[in-house]
Amino acid sequence: MIKKICRPFFIFTFLFSVVSCYGSWNFWYEGNDVDFRTKELLNITETTDQKFADSNLANLGGKYTVLIISDTHFGNTKKAVNTEILFNWLDSIQGTSDYPVFAINLGDVTDLGRRDHFEQYTEFCKTLTKKYNMKIIFNVCGNHDAYQNNWENWMRDCYPHTSFYRFQTKNFSWYCLDTASGTIGIKQYYLLHSALENDSRQKIIFTHYPFVRSTLDCANMAETTERNLLLSDFVENNVKCVLGGHNHEKSFDDIGFPDYGLPSFAYDNEWGLLHVDEDTGVVSLDFVGEKNKDSLLDPDTHINPELNLPLGD
Ligand SMILES: [Fe+2]
Repeated sequence: MIKKICRPFFIFTFLFSVVSCYGSWNFWYEGNDVDFRTKELLNITETTDQKFADSNLANLGGKYTVLIISDTHFGNTKKAVNTEILFNWLDSIQGTSDYPVFAINLGDVTDLGRRDHFEQYTEFCKTLTKKYNMKIIFNVCGNHDAYQNNWENWMRDCYPHTSFYRFQTKNFSWYCLDTASGTIGIKQYYLLHSALENDSRQKIIFTHYPFVRSTLDCANMAETTERNLLLSDFVENNVKCVLGGHNHEKSFDDIGFPDYGLPSFAYDNEWGLLHVDEDTGVVSLDFVGEKNKDSLLDPDTHINPELNLPLGD
């Protein structure tokens, strides 16, 4: 009798572990939750953060570009990260107006959040800052980074050493949210709602989990009421665009503002170049990388024909 009951259970457990992305972690997962990680919104300023002060980003204005990478998955043994493709591209645009001033990684910077995976990622960031003159690499926390209580590793290695924060350039406010658990959570929601309402600047929002991906059936923010409240806040509070990762697919939705989905740097050899004009408030994203070599912009309309992306004026 016991055999009859146990056999199907173990067969099901084994098959589920084999076919699921998360393997045995479906049953033995440990982790912290978003409310634990987002007790406060860190406001990065020149007076509170020496690294930010040294970068002089608070005075950055006019037209410039920002490197956006996502889902780098450092430590993944199945698909090693091809850093050279990015470094070669940076070499090719040295000295041009397209050269990015700083960089933001939209999460899953590591594959499993282990110390050795973060150490590999730290070496990559060092190359971007020291050899390629990126003033700062900001980081958004992804679900892979916070696996198995590896939050401590994130806190140690990923600037600005927390997952819910804001910094400001001359006319823009930049908000990085913690969606690593697939939800904003009640604490982060109220803190963000209040911060957005009390900030009259133009804003850009960065997340790991996407808010809306009309072309994808799964892996958006799970709690739709929470998501809709946030989208309403974004529309009402001068948000210029939202950028997320996680799906390993490039995407674009016009939801009252542009919602860009970044492909995976590790799996797709692609990244983004965010064009910012602080004086006019125009923000747009170019997809760059291996699959975009032949994707030429229409010289008259400045539209990427592949995705019908509006790319500013
Ligand atoms: Fe992810």
